[in-house]
Amino acid sequence: MKEDNVALIGFMGVGKTSVALQLSKRLGKGYISTDNLVVKKAGKPISRIFEEDGEIRFRELEIEAVKEAASMRNMVIDCGGGVVLNWINVEYLKRSSTIILLKARPEIILKRISKCKEVRPLLKDLRLENLVRLLKFREPFYERAADYAIDSSNLSIGKVVDEVIKLYESSSYEKQR
Ligand code: S3P
Repeated sequence: MKEDNVALIGFMGVGKTSVALQLSKRLGKGYISTDNLVVKKAGKPISRIFEEDGEIRFRELEIEAVKEAASMRNMVIDCGGGVVLNWINVEYLKRSSTIILLKARPEIILKRISKCKEVRPLLKDLRLENLVRLLKFREPFYERAADYAIDSSNLSIGKVVDEVIKLYESSSYEKQR
């Protein structure tokens, strides 16, 4: 089977990391996060990369991180929310992974992000209208990159994981035939 990785994409706060961690256990795959790889490469947290080096530098490191993650085998790849903005990232992912988009309604995303301690440089001004604007701009990028999509708004993490496994297994079956 060629596509043995599962890549989770989607906007900040849709639950990619929680889902990816459970999914990797359930599928017996490794877990890798493009954000963690970027932090390792830069030797500093994402907020400081944005502050000191700018978003463009962050995106360069992110391209390296996606390339590295996509070249691994048998992984669940937890992708930063902006990975889809550079098409080269999607090309890397498509070679080795089934790409699953997690979606959620803006109000739900806002609630989840507000509860979280992690600093997200692109959502410092946490107002619904800002989030909706960014989400609208990003939507076509997400839709174009995804093999499948799941709306996680009303689902527990466990249920989203169940759905991802169903989709991944049906896609593996179709690709084997
Ligand atoms: C970003 C999402 C973040 C992180 C960075 C930029 C984005 O990852 O990569 O702050 O552009 O959407 P999460 O989606 O894991 O929060």
